[in-house]
Amino acid sequence: MTLSVSTVRVSTAGGGYDVLVGRGLLHDLGGRCGAVGLRPSRVHVFEDAGVPEQLRDAAAKTFASATITRSAFQLDEHSKSLATLERMLMELAEASLERTDLVVVVGGGILGDAGGLAAAMHRRGVAVVQCPTTLLAMVDASVGGKTAVNLPTRFGGVEVLLKNGVGVFHQPSLVVADVDALASLEPRHVRCGLAECAKHAVISGDAGEDMMSLDGLVAALPRLLGGDADVLASLVHQNVSFKAGVVASDELELATGSTAGRRALNLGHTFAHAIEASEPARVLVEGAEHHPMHGEAVGLGLIAAAELASHLGLCNEGLAAAIRAAVEAAGLPTKLAAIGATGEMIAAMRQDKKTSGGTLRLVMPRGSGVTMLDDPGDDAIATAWRAVV
Ligand code: GLY
Repeated sequence: MTLSVSTVRVSTAGGGYDVLVGRGLLHDLGGRCGAVGLRPSRVHVFEDAGVPEQLRDAAAKTFASATITRSAFQLDEHSKSLATLERMLMELAEASLERTDLVVVVGGGILGDAGGLAAAMHRRGVAVVQCPTTLLAMVDASVGGKTAVNLPTRFGGVEVLLKNGVGVFHQPSLVVADVDALASLEPRHVRCGLAECAKHAVISGDAGEDMMSLDGLVAALPRLLGGDADVLASLVHQNVSFKAGVVASDELELATGSTAGRRALNLGHTFAHAIEASEPARVLVEGAEHHPMHGEAVGLGLIAAAELASHLGLCNEGLAAAIRAAVEAAGLPTKLAAIGATGEMIAAMRQDKKTSGGTLRLVMPRGSGVTMLDDPGDDAIATAWRAVV
């Protein structure tokens, strides 16, 4: 029962792959894989336990001529771990997957990252098809081949969860984004995906009326938050098209100097990772305090990065205000209800993996895209933190 589908091609050194965006796609998953030449004898499906079982069953049943094994996970940033990776690798070994077989991931970004890494490591790499079921995974995590688990470690005697500390690039063979999966998503998760869309809009510097501009995105928010499947499909298509261009230009994130390349996609993320790694960090969501989810941390990170850029004269105050307004309009927190000491947050930022040669490097909004900034010093960074506390 496929209603409509659009295709975005992601060009990579390995040849590239399609991202299919549309409705009803999981009901023809095996057929979609066959259409791009994937005809495995065995398929192992890593499933997100949060995705309705009916939808997971329907997707698995479409591989009529293959032997199917399945396992379900309910992961968070702490269980996105080496222990989960080990469990996944054991399941792939038990399923006797060979190099010509297939791993399928049906779920959100955390499962996609961990399952993608397991696929990359099993017998030195089997093909993986990513089927993102959250907005965040559709517009960002499932595209571009980044796979990882987190690594608990210590810096200067302080325990830190190193986000995506263990991982490899392993491009998927196909991405199938069935926007019908978003219908069962909690509103909090939809809002988290919108944070990455806002990030893309700032990086693109687009001033048009489509959803790749901040104004266009904000104008579409009522329909997006109302669950309009056609508008959601359009949002996913536009964001995947944008990300595909960035990935094609710098697949392995190797651009150097002031050229941001793929690192542009880390806009707000150095702040966000520090927030996520901060045990006391809390945001107020629907009247209750929670540890921030990734998208919420990204929204706050965008605000902090824009504040820093404005403070340093890299962008005007109007852009910083527009970014804050977009985050707020998306229903995301614009302030932290609790957070670690500013000194600890800055130390965590300096441990972020985007540090290069021991120097913190930050992606800064400019008004028409982004630029890279070398460590501006504690006082300037503290100014940025004050914008979100
Ligand atoms: N999520 C950032 C990237 O894929 O590079």
